Amino acid sequence: MVLPSTADFLLWYAKSASHTKFRQLYKPKEEGSSYDAVYTRGTADNPFTLSDITAQKPTTVFDFVFEGKTFNPLPRGWRTTKDSMDRVGRADRIERVSGSIRYRQFLNDYPIIPRNNFWADTGTGSFTESKVYVVQTAQKVIERCILMATDPGDLVLDPTCGSGTTATVAEQWGRRWITIDTSRVALALARARIMGARYPFYLLADSRDGQIKEAEVTRTAPSSQPVQGNIRHGFVYERVPHITLKSIATNAEIDVIWEQWEARLAPLRGQLSEVSGQKKTLEEWEIPRERPKDWPLTTEALISDFWQARIARQQEIDKSIAAKAEFEHLYDKPYPDNKKVRVAGPFTVESLSPHRVLGVDEDDELIDLTAKDTIGEYEAKQSFPQMILENLKTAGVQQAHKEDRITFTALTPWPGDLVCADGRYLEGDTEKRAGIFIGPEFGTVQRADLVSAAREAGDAGFDVLIACAFNYEAHATEFTKLGRIPVLKARMNADLHMAEDLKNTGKGNLFVIFGEPDIDLITEKDGRLRVKVNGVDVFKPQTGEIVSSGADGIACWFIDTDYNEESFFVRHAYFLGANDPYSSLKTTLKAEINQEAWETLHSDTSRPFDKPKQGRIAVKVINHLGDEVMKVFRI
Ligand SMILES: C[S@@+](CC[C@H](N)C(=O)[O-])C[C@H]1O[C@@H](n2cnc3c(N)ncnc32)[C@H](O)[C@@H]1O
Repeated sequence: MVLPSTADFLLWYAKSASHTKFRQLYKPKEEGSSYDAVYTRGTADNPFTLSDITAQKPTTVFDFVFEGKTFNPLPRGWRTTKDSMDRVGRADRIERVSGSIRYRQFLNDYPIIPRNNFWADTGTGSFTESKVYVVQTAQKVIERCILMATDPGDLVLDPTCGSGTTATVAEQWGRRWITIDTSRVALALARARIMGARYPFYLLADSRDGQIKEAEVTRTAPSSQPVQGNIRHGFVYERVPHITLKSIATNAEIDVIWEQWEARLAPLRGQLSEVSGQKKTLEEWEIPRERPKDWPLTTEALISDFWQARIARQQEIDKSIAAKAEFEHLYDKPYPDNKKVRVAGPFTVESLSPHRVLGVDEDDELIDLTAKDTIGEYEAKQSFPQMILENLKTAGVQQAHKEDRITFTALTPWPGDLVCADGRYLEGDTEKRAGIFIGPEFGTVQRADLVSAAREAGDAGFDVLIACAFNYEAHATEFTKLGRIPVLKARMNADLHMAEDLKNTGKGNLFVIFGEPDIDLITEKDGRLRVKVNGVDVFKPQTGEIVSSGADGIACWFIDTDYNEESFFVRHAYFLGANDPYSSLKTTLKAEINQEAWETLHSDTSRPFDKPKQGRIAVKVINHLGDEVMKVFRI
C-alpha cells in the first residue's frame, strides 16, 4: 500500500522439488546490453573477450612456450595440461597481452544466458496482445511456465479458464489441456479463441521430416528408425553451442586438422623465408599480412597462398570445435514447418451433466435446503432463494432482444411447494402474474421439477411460470408449455454464486431466457439425416405469445450425431450470424480455405449424416452471450 510495486510474483508449487520437471530456458546475450562492454575485441559479427587461462590453485604448473616466449603461471596454475594448452594455442584461442597470455572467449561460444526468476520481458505482452477478457493473463507468462515445466504431449490443467489463455498456449505448443470455468461467457470466449486461431506446425522428432532436420542441424546422417509421429518424442529444437576451454582442450581432432594443414603451411613458410632472405625459417606468427616494402615482389603470391591456407585451417578447426562442443536445446525454439497450417485439434466442451446433486451433511443425511431448521448462522442472514428473488426484482429477465425484457412491477413471496414468488409485470396495459420457481444453488433442474411447478402455477391461477436455474437437464429444454401456462426457463448467471460481493445494481445479464431452439429434422431419400435450425423461440411479454426469432440470435450450433446421453461430442459445428467466431480463422486462412467447405460451416442446415447407432442425436445451440441450450432427439 505504501511503495508502488514493480513486479508480480509467480508461485510454483510441486509435489516434490526433486521430481519437478524443469526445462532450462535461455535468452540471447543481447546487443546493447552490458555484454557489449565485455566482448570488445574481434570483428563485429564475431566479437570476443579475453579471459583468464590460469586457475587459482597452482596444481598445473609448467613453463609454457607461446609465440617464442616462455610463460609461467605462478603463484597460480594453468587451467589445463601442457598438451591441451598447445592445442588451445593451435586453435588460435590464446593471445599475448604484455607479460602474460589470455584465453580468447567468443560471444558465439555461448551466445545465451539461462533465464532466472526475473522476467523483465513478459510485461509488455499484455499491451501488444489484444484482450478479449478483462482479466486476461499475458500470454508470454503462461507460455514461459508451460515451456519451462512441461514437454510436448504433457497435460496442462487450468481450473480458472477465463478467456482460455492457458488452453490456447498449450494447444500452440502441443500440450494436451483441460480447462474449467464457472462462467459460460468465459467458456464461450475460450472456445471461440481456441478454434479461431492458427497455430504453427513444429517438426516432430518422431517423423521423417524431423529426422532429416535433426541430421541437418547436427551434421550427421539421418536416423533410419521407423517413425510414428508421436508428439511425446518432442520437437526438433534449435540449439546453440556451449563451447568451453575444456571442450577445446579435449578435442583431439584439432591436432589432426592442424597436422594436415601443416603439410602445406610449413613449405610455404620455408619458401617465403628463403625468397625474402631470412636467416632462419619464419614462424607462423611472424608471417606478415601484406608484403613488407623491402621484400621482393614474388613474395606477394606466397603470402596470399599462406593466408588462404591459414584461414581455411582456422575454419576447419572452428567447425570441429562447434561440432564437438556440448550444446543446449532451445525448448522455446522448435523448427516450424512453414508449409503446414495447423488449427486446433478436436476438443469437447462439457457442461454440468444432467445429474441431480444432493446435499448431505456430515452424517450423510440429506439436507433439505428450504427447511427452516437447517438454516445455520451463516445462512441466517439471507437464504439462497431470498437472495435470488432480490436480484430478480432489480434485474428483471432478459431475452435476446432488449424490448422483450420482463420487468417486474412487484415481486412478493408465495407459499407454494415449488413456486416461491408471485411476480407482476405488464402485458400492454394489463397486469399479468408470473409464478417464480427457483432451482437449486448447486445442481440441475429436471424436467419433472418444471412439470410440477407448472401444474402448481396453473392451479394457483398464474399466467406464466418463470423458472430460474443455473442449469437445466437436456430433456427440460423441450418442455415449454403446460396447458395454457407457458414455461420460461431463465438461466442464472454464475455471478449469483457470489451474491455477497455482487452489487445489486440491476446491471449485467443475471437472468436470461434462451428459448427452445426451433429445429427440423430432414430425412434424405437415402435415409440419412440433416438438421435445420430455424431459430429460437422467444416469449413476447408484450403479448404473451411465443414466436420464433430466426437464426440471427444464434452464434453457433453443434450436433452430436450419435449422442450417448452422457457427454456431448461435437461432431458437426456450424457458425451463424454477424459475429461468427470462425471469421477470424477464415481471415487468417484466407487463400487456403475451401470456399465450398466454408459455406457448409456457415449454415443453418447441416450436412447429411448417418442415423445414430445409439438412437439419439443432440443439438446444442449457443447465442452471442454464451448461453446454450441442448435438445435431444430420439431417432
Ligand atoms: C482471472 S480469471 C482467469 C483469466 C485467464 N487466465 C485468462 O487469461 O483469461 C479467473 C476465472 O476464474 C473463474 N472462476 C472463478 N471461480 C471459479 C471456480 N470456483 N471454479 C472455476 N472457475 C472459477 C472466473 O469465472 C474467471 O473467468
